[in-house]
Amino acid sequence: MVAAAVAPSEYVEEAADLLPRLPRASGSQPATLLELGSGGGSLAFHLKRHFRLTLTDRSPGMLAVSQVINPECEHLPGDMRSLRLDRQFDIVLVHDAIMYATEPLAVQETLRTAAIHCREGGTVAVLPRLRSRNVCG
Ligand SMILES: C[S@@+](CC[C@H](N)C(=O)[O-])C[C@H]1O[C@@H](n2cnc3c(N)ncnc32)[C@H](O)[C@@H]1O
Repeated sequence: MVAAAVAPSEYVEEAADLLPRLPRASGSQPATLLELGSGGGSLAFHLKRHFRLTLTDRSPGMLAVSQVINPECEHLPGDMRSLRLDRQFDIVLVHDAIMYATEPLAVQETLRTAAIHCREGGTVAVLPRLRSRNVCG
């Protein structure tokens, strides 16, 4: 699959559905959220007011697109199957990028990456896109 960026407006409904399900920090600082396979950052665009985001993707081109619309967020290159940041987050999100994990081993490795980066008591959210829509080119 070749990824193509989709406008943030395409993710309004999904963000509205997701936001109330994600835990918020109890202190004054926003919760930290790592997204694996964050693509053009269109979902992140709707989350960044609520969380401190670290956005990762294996595609430098997609990260560059995201940096334009989310300049205030941290962007890091990395494959979701093998990324190791040596940091933990309150929330680890794998959105529609999980649809690229078409082999059981890739799913297993991605979930391991998510678990390793999630703090104890934190949240891992995996959101496969089950409706058919051409978001990934
Ligand atoms: C549909 S796009 C994500 C769109 C994103 N949800 C958004 O809000 O803009 C899927 C992304 O997954 C990334 N991806 C696919 N396999 C990956 C992997 N193994 N590791 C990291 N990123 C991956 C692709 O590069 C692509 O940018």
